[in-house]
This record gives sequence, structure tokens and C-alpha cells, in this order.
Amino acid sequence: MLHLGFTLLLVLGATLRASLGAAFPQDTPKKNCNLSKYQSFLPQETRAVQKMKEQFEEIMLLSDRQCNIRLFHRKWKTAELLVPDRMKLVEAELDFAIDMLELPAEPKFNETRQQPLFFLTQAREDVRDCLPTGHVPPGKLRHWLQKLEMAKETETSGCLEASAILHLFQMLNDLRCAALRERCT
Ligand SMILES: *[C@@H]1O[C@H](CO)[C@@H](O)[C@H](O)[C@H]1NC(C)=O
Ligand SMILES: *[C@@H]1O[C@H](CO)[C@@H](O)[C@H](O)[C@H]1NC(C)=O
Repeated sequence: MLHLGFTLLLVLGATLRASLGAAFPQDTPKKNCNLSKYQSFLPQETRAVQKMKEQFEEIMLLSDRQCNIRLFHRKWKTAELLVPDRMKLVEAELDFAIDMLELPAEPKFNETRQQPLFFLTQAREDVRDCLPTGHVPPGKLRHWLQKLEMAKETETSGCLEASAILHLFQMLNDLRCAALRERCT
């Protein structure tokens, strides 16, 4: 009987903690969240992305890509978002970029993209440690995330790939803005 009462107390305690946690979502960074290394980029990382972008532009000139999506022409600035929302935005952007950089490619481009791909994959891991829980993003971000999902379903992979690669520096700026937290304005 005593044992049973004790178990019940434990269960009650856990339930109480869980509901309190849900009632007071925290905007404070999580324990493993540390994006300090993305506050500025190493020149070799930037150069690797630049080289890949230039090579991709050459490939694009030789191919005929019909593409009219304007995913990255947003009416709002990343700095306008709260820090937890920037994390969500950046995770979605990195996810998109990584998917596009894993598409089949000619050997030369495949080689060039390895370093940026490695960097972006590492960044995505680090951003995932910072994703908010129990936090509802504002309408403008939700709308953009929906637009991205919709584009993934309706646009050709050639168009999506171009959109991602040509906007990599914008995504890196968003990553930097998320890493700078309150100092990105
Ligand atoms: C975050 O990571 C950097 C290295 O990337 C390290 O120098 C720094 O001490 C870390 N900060 C915290 C709070 O763990
Ligand atoms: C791209 O390069 C990586 C590493 O060099 C290799 O493992 C992979 O099979 C290559 N993929 C394609 C599509 O060529």
C-alpha cells in the first residue's frame, strides 16, 4: 500500500512538471544550443560556397531552367523574427539547401559541393539543438514555411535546386542572424 502511494506520488509529480513546462514555454536557449561559431564565417567556408555557386551558374547557363518561384524575396527581414522563430526558419532553409545539394550531379560539381554540404549539415545539427518547443511561429513565418513545402511539391527539382543554390548566401546570413541572437537587428 505504501509502495503504491509512493508510485502515485511520483506519477503526479511528473504530470505536474510536464504541465507546468507546457504552461511556461521557455525562450531561453537549450543546454546544448551553441551557435557561437556561426556568428562569423571562416573565409574558406565562404570561398567554398562562392566557388560552388559560380560553378552552378555555369551549369545553369548551359541548361534551360524554367523557374519563377520567388521563395527568397520575402517582405520581412529575418531580424524582425524572435530568436526562436529564426531557428525554425534557418532549420527549414538548411534542410532545403541540403536536400538540393544531394541531388544527382555531374562529378565535377559533386566534388565542389562536398565542403559546403558538410558545413551546412553540421550547421543544421547545431541549429536543431536550438529549436524551440511549445512555441507557435508568427503568421508570416508559418506562411513562408507553407510556401516552401508547396514549392517542393509543385516545382521541378531543377528549379528548386537553382533557387536554393543561388540563395545560399542569404541562408548563411539568416544563420548568422540566428547565431547573433539579440545582436542581429
Ligand atoms: C560554444 O562553442 C564555442 C566553440 O564553438 C566555445 O568556444 C564556447 O565556449 C561554447 N559556449 C558555451 C556556452 O558552451
Ligand atoms: C559525390 O561524391 C561523394 C564523395 O566524394 C561520393 O561518395 C558520392 O557517391 C558522389 N555522388 C555522386 C552522385 O556522384
